[in-house]
Amino acid sequence: MKLTAVQLKKLKSAAKSAAQRAYAPYSNFPVGAAVLGGSGKIYSGCNVENASYGLSNCAERTAIFSAVANGEMRLKCVVVYTPTKIVTAPCGACRQVIHEFGPDARVISFCTSREEIDVSIHALLPGAFGPQDLV
Ligand code: THU
Repeated sequence: MKLTAVQLKKLKSAAKSAAQRAYAPYSNFPVGAAVLGGSGKIYSGCNVENASYGLSNCAERTAIFSAVANGEMRLKCVVVYTPTKIVTAPCGACRQVIHEFGPDARVISFCTSREEIDVSIHALLPGAFGPQDLV
């Protein structure tokens, strides 16, 4: 999907500022994410860890759950920021959740260097299981 320069700038800026609110005292790996909903609105989120490590939530899922909680069921784009030199792609669990609400979503990851990932969720999760399989 095509983003305007303004949309991309806003998404990147929202993801970057969300990373500053990450609660990541165990991994020390802050992540920020921003998603663009079908309405044009942007929702952001950060990773939220827990002393019971397995309960930690990734930034992508925090942002997506916030979008859904606000009635946004169709996601067009997910942008992920890590304050690292090497760019990181969403984890497997987040890929599955992105697919649920954005089967055609564009996924962009960026970091402090010029490295970027800019692909479709299809490329990250080919042959995905999804809502279409349950009908
Ligand atoms: N994390 C994310 O928030 N998004 C990703 O795409 C990869 C990993 C978080 C989970 C955990 O809080 C920390 O990064 C280290 O894995």
